[in-house]
Amino acid sequence: MKDFKYLTPTEVVFGRDSESQIATLVKKYNGNKVLIHYGGRTAERSGLLDQVRNQLDAAGIANVSLGGVVPNPRLSKVYEGIDLCRKEGVDFILAVGGGSVIDSAKAIAYGLAYDGDVWDFFSGKVTAKECYPVGVVLTIPAAGSEMSNGTVITKEDGELKRAYDDDLCRPRFAVMNPERTFTLPAYQTACGVVDIMMHTMERYFSHDADMALTDEISEGLLRTVRDSAFKVLADSCDYRSRAQIMWAGSLAHNGLTGCGLTSDWSTHLLEHELSAIFDVAHGAGLASLWCSWARYVYKENVSRFVRFAVNVMGVTNDYTDPEGTALAGIAAMERFYSALGMPVSIRELIGRDITDEEIAEMARKCSFDGTTRIGRFKSLGKEDMEAIYRLAR
Ligand code: NZQ
Ligand code: ZN
Repeated sequence: MKDFKYLTPTEVVFGRDSESQIATLVKKYNGNKVLIHYGGRTAERSGLLDQVRNQLDAAGIANVSLGGVVPNPRLSKVYEGIDLCRKEGVDFILAVGGGSVIDSAKAIAYGLAYDGDVWDFFSGKVTAKECYPVGVVLTIPAAGSEMSNGTVITKEDGELKRAYDDDLCRPRFAVMNPERTFTLPAYQTACGVVDIMMHTMERYFSHDADMALTDEISEGLLRTVRDSAFKVLADSCDYRSRAQIMWAGSLAHNGLTGCGLTSDWSTHLLEHELSAIFDVAHGAGLASLWCSWARYVYKENVSRFVRFAVNVMGVTNDYTDPEGTALAGIAAMERFYSALGMPVSIRELIGRDITDEEIAEMARKCSFDGTTRIGRFKSLGKEDMEAIYRLAR
């Protein structure tokens, strides 16, 4: 097992009545003036926003609101949030929503504590020294941003979707009520399931062999999410299964499934280029690419893919044909994604054939003009990226 650091400072309050504690938590983490940050109309329609405002008002905590965060959150909204917070003297950002809202909140929190352009963090120009505190009321399990150190923002100019990873932004608290996720449409539920599984698989596909406990945790998490997915698609209000998925979403991306190993992240980086250009849901983009990535790289470590096939996908091990077993595991995952209603090709994702020029452009951006390689399971240069996009087309 490799040496590692494991930091999960987020206080999780999980369960049916968890929202009743929002004001107490804001106070506990020294919020005096709060920005309530949210997305489209979901939180408004469900009454959640009113509940949050009423609670803060009743507790005497001043607050202002800013909605309108869209999936694949935009830099322009982040600038708007920073301006508003400066004008209003906000000292705590409360995200009410999913990964997009949380990431927008984190970016505002970085920007508030910095004199320059907040994009500097995402372009790699500077490293953050400070970040205002962020709290979360989660409404969709998927991105894992409620406990992660990640922030992903899209700059409209140049269609650049970039991540900035730093422990400073890990939320102070996350309130998670699985009942809030009953209203998720099947497609969004499935996108979340894919993202949660992919956060685990990006770490699981590693060459480090000596990490038995981390492997067992990952495999258990993957099987749990896989089985729960069908249950919630059959019955949207299945609390038990919604709860499994919600908790798995946090554990998949708070660092637990990466302890002691070297993770890959190629599929995520390749996907970010897809959602930057086509504005697709992140989970669907991942589903459209993963099987092609897997078929491109599996020979680097066939036994790892055999273990995945057998322990996660329930494939029978053909000891005489490890490659056959590995490929059967990838095919089983592909069938699983299809059964969830997820795309397994770029054509299925964007509804038309992708052009050679678009593939070249995505590979160019992903490789920073051919200067950067991605992936630790198999190191991928610009030509490899193009090859995977072509395999997935
Ligand atoms: O905007 P509203 O009205 O809230 O609707 C949202 C949105 O349309 C809807 N939704 C949320 N909760 C709902 C609901 N609909 C019905 N009932 C509910 N309870 O779902 C849609 C998608 O929301 P979004 O926040 O975009 O989803 P997700 O959590 O998947 O976040 C995706 C973003 O997170 C980034 C992705 O790249 C993408 O930009 N990621 C962030 C990571 C991180 N910070 O650590 C890691 C991930 O790998 C990922 O890259
Ligand atoms: Zn993801």
